[in-house]
Amino acid sequence: MTDNPTPMLSRPYVRMGLLAAAAALATVLVMSLYTSISSRKAEARQTSFKVVDLDEKTVDPAQWGKNFPRQYDAYLRTAEKYGTKYGGAGSEAMPISRLKEDPRLVTMFDGYPFSIDFNQRRGHAYMLEDQLKTRRVTERKQTGSCLHCHASNTVAYREEGLKGGAPGTLDEAFTSPNAQAQLMAGFEAVCKLPYGEAVKALKHPVACIDCHDPKSMALRVTKPGFIRGIEALSKSADPLPHLPSIEKWRKGDRSLPYDANRDASRQEMRSMVCGQCHVEYYCGPKTTLFFPWNNGLKVEQIEATYDAYKFPDGGRFFDWKHARTGAEALKAQHPEFEMWSQGIHARSGVSCADCHMPYKREGAIKITDHQVRSPLLDVTRSCQTCHRFPEVELKARVTAIQDRTKALMDRAEDAIVALIADIEAAKKAGVDEAKLKPVLELQRKAQWRVDFVNAENSMGFHAPQEAARILGEAVDYGRQGQIALRDLGAAKVAKK
Ligand code: HEC
Ligand code: HEC
Ligand code: HEC
Ligand code: HEC
Ligand code: HEC
Repeated sequence: MTDNPTPMLSRPYVRMGLLAAAAALATVLVMSLYTSISSRKAEARQTSFKVVDLDEKTVDPAQWGKNFPRQYDAYLRTAEKYGTKYGGAGSEAMPISRLKEDPRLVTMFDGYPFSIDFNQRRGHAYMLEDQLKTRRVTERKQTGSCLHCHASNTVAYREEGLKGGAPGTLDEAFTSPNAQAQLMAGFEAVCKLPYGEAVKALKHPVACIDCHDPKSMALRVTKPGFIRGIEALSKSADPLPHLPSIEKWRKGDRSLPYDANRDASRQEMRSMVCGQCHVEYYCGPKTTLFFPWNNGLKVEQIEATYDAYKFPDGGRFFDWKHARTGAEALKAQHPEFEMWSQGIHARSGVSCADCHMPYKREGAIKITDHQVRSPLLDVTRSCQTCHRFPEVELKARVTAIQDRTKALMDRAEDAIVALIADIEAAKKAGVDEAKLKPVLELQRKAQWRVDFVNAENSMGFHAPQEAARILGEAVDYGRQGQIALRDLGAAKVAKK
């Protein structure tokens, strides 16, 4: 026990001294923290090393990689193979055949190249190689249109446009009127070339220059199909709450056409760069490649666009005549952008890049992961930034959605295969072709819908309820077709 009446700390001069010392210490701490933060900030700015002077002619990603080694390194790693329950293409040397996994597709696509070779997708590193090797290219005639989404062709298009007489030079900024004229003229010309000829000018899969401005590194879209498609979409009446810049453009004076590179927000761009390729499209010999978005992005709006579309020869739109039934059928291709557009994530402002190119830390640096792949391989960075549930729970939710979609899709495919069998039987029994016409229309509708979900690569996850709605319609159209045949009195009712 001490009976000191005036403890040290209550003595005025001691208190003053301590205060001063504390203040000094605090200053030192703040100063050192500041130095640490600013050196970290500098380090963060150091994600780029200006070694190479990038410009509108720099196609080779390795050159960009000298300035941005981290992004380049991850970009190269899209060559790594993986498999999730429904995603990736596994680890075998060859991609998995979707036709062997699901033989009903061979019946559905009969008469079309997709019935001879159709595989699971793989990483971006393989896009050019896999296209060169597919029997759809080696055994069937294809055009340069196929390359729109399988190679870096931003510069090749412009060069081809210049050869054809478009104004200006390659040095002009991509968004300048001259560069745009070069791009579009070259695109038209390349789409008409035979595949083997068009591919000669191309070396790289999707590259930095396809998504980035070489001077500012800002995101941009460069693929002509998307530039035209999004402009057509902007003029439609389809509500697009997830693309606010289009809604805003629609309310403006519309003196200039909608231009994603001028009008879209950074967050929208984080999905639009993917929408350059992960979309439904027409790509065939009859006309230039286009994205069918004139009426909107939903399955029946795209169908309406095709139904109204006339080829230059006056005929109505179809991808091929079904070998067994003669139906003028449609083939859907990877409508990820369209399906995502109908889901709650798009509606909540969540972009493709948020899930498929999440941020990652490397030391003090936060960068965008350029190893584009399934988000289920890193739920922490892809999902848990927004969702507080444990990883197993989030994965279980995804699997629940995917398993349900798969089960409904199986039923819809069974319905279509049964309808095709019944039409074949009706034809054999000699039913009048004219009477069969409405049934063939039902086959077209049913098949288009089931394929829209099958060809979409998230197995329902991007918009679960929309996928179920589409599949419900597919089952209905398929069975309506069978009922119509029964009413014609010609076909045996399907045993399935
Ligand atoms: C909310 C997160 C989220 C958003 C946003 C999102 N996706 Fe996905 N995506 C997923 C999940 C989850 C899967 C299923 C992955 C699996 O089965 O392994 C998937 C699957 C895919 C696949 C197939 C992947 C594989 O491994 O085979 C592609 C391709 C794809 N998405 C593209 C897109 C595109 C393009 C967009 C934007 C238009 C988009 N995604 C938006 C979460 C998302
Ligand atoms: C230039 C066209 C193009 C662009 C742009 C593009 N993709 Fe792809 N993507 C493809 C092609 C083609 C494949 C399939 C390659 C193959 O199977 O060989 C693919 C495959 C994928 C896969 C499957 C990966 C795997 O390993 O199985 C995912 C996931 C994916 N893309 C997501 C995206 C996202 C997200 C974006 C936007 C950030 C994007 N893609 C931009 C064309 C593109
Ligand atoms: C609008 C963009 C686009 C065009 C045009 C395009 N593709 Fe693709 N292709 C993709 C995307 C995205 C993927 C990956 C998703 C998938 O496999 O569904 C892909 C995947 C592929 C694959 C790997 C999976 C498979 O289907 O076996 C091959 C091969 C392929 N495409 C060949 C072609 C051929 C041949 C053409 C021309 C008839 C073509 N592509 C035109 C975007 C496109
Ligand atoms: C399919 C489109 C696509 C391709 C191809 C692509 N990137 Fe990106 N990149 C993105 C997206 C999306 C972001 C995020 C941008 C944002 O949020 O503003 C990004 C961001 C960046 C950034 C900004 C810093 C960061 O990490 O967020 C750099 C630098 C970059 N990319 C470099 C590259 C390089 C180098 C290549 C080629 C090796 C490349 N990118 C290829 C889509 C792409
Ligand atoms: C940038 C934020 C963000 C990211 C990243 C994100 N989500 Fe979401 N997610 C949301 C929002 C917002 C909703 C809408 C519900 C709400 O408002 O809470 C949602 C809804 C969902 C739903 C309900 C879907 C439905 O149709 O009702 C599931 C399941 C889901 N997310 C899973 C995932 C998974 C798995 C991932 C990673 C692959 C992911 N989310 C990534 C923000 C995000």
